[in-house]
Amino acid sequence: TTATASEGKRVLLAAPRGYCAGVDRAVVTVEKALDLYGPPVYVRKEIVHNKHVVTTLEKRGAIFVDETQEVPEGATVIFSAHGVAPIVHDEAKALSLKTIDATCPLVTKVHREAKRFAGDDFDILLIGHEGHEEVVGTSGEAPEHITLVQSPDHVDEVVVRDPDKVVWLSQTTLSVDETMETVRRLRERFPKLQDPPSDDICYATQNRQLAVKQMAAQTDLMIVVGSRNSSNSVRLVEVALEHGARDGHLVDYADEIADEWLDGVTTVGVTSGASVPEVLVRDVLQFLAIRGFTDVETVTAAEESLLFALPNELRRDLKARG
Ligand code: F3S
Repeated sequence: TTATASEGKRVLLAAPRGYCAGVDRAVVTVEKALDLYGPPVYVRKEIVHNKHVVTTLEKRGAIFVDETQEVPEGATVIFSAHGVAPIVHDEAKALSLKTIDATCPLVTKVHREAKRFAGDDFDILLIGHEGHEEVVGTSGEAPEHITLVQSPDHVDEVVVRDPDKVVWLSQTTLSVDETMETVRRLRERFPKLQDPPSDDICYATQNRQLAVKQMAAQTDLMIVVGSRNSSNSVRLVEVALEHGARDGHLVDYADEIADEWLDGVTTVGVTSGASVPEVLVRDVLQFLAIRGFTDVETVTAAEESLLFALPNELRRDLKARG
């Protein structure tokens, strides 16, 4: 393909996009563990929900498993950014595994809230997607106190023991607007419903959605770089379409973009989920530039500077090795 005259063709590039502090920490944790202990290093579940990240780490010697029982006795296992239920720590102990917990601190925060409200004997309405690893982990903190609420449409089915002692919590990577709608309907049913002590939907999820909202109405096509199993990435496509983007697609790689998507398109919006390395976005921009979309304008919705320290158990070993 050759570059064609741009004729007003432009790209709106969302900021912030891509890696959040929790993903960066989790990926660096696996990299440093590989350097420090040498391969193989086991990782329970995908460290973050991104195909490219997982295949790249696999090539370096990480072995991804679904269950703790697949890890050989005494080996090192890293828990993914999405968090684990307490029972998983017990399973690891039973196998004498060395564990490194790469759970995002903002997920751990929700676990602590769940434990606290369960301790006070609340019914906890956890808004989230059934089967998502984060939801499985959080629910495992207090299974007898937590009821999953998947969407506004599921509110009517909710049953509680005492409507005066109900709190809602949520998965960190949901649509902010849909979650607020779920809460509104829950509160209609349970007027005494308590809010979480602070936002459970994390800053990164909120900021990426905010940027997409600012661009959506101007875009003919929104391209979100991210994997199908990445909750926050999937939400970005939905948010774009709800806020006026004419078309929107999720792609893992630039070569998944179909040329037909660009037919009659002048403005392409580009963003990426919180688990997506920037190199994949650069590939998309290059793909678009070759097709005449050379004019790139950044739309900044927020500044981010949060960084998390690596897991303690890893920092200790890094320090010991000098
Ligand atoms: Fe943590 Fe939010 Fe990222 S919960 S892993 S900062 S998407």
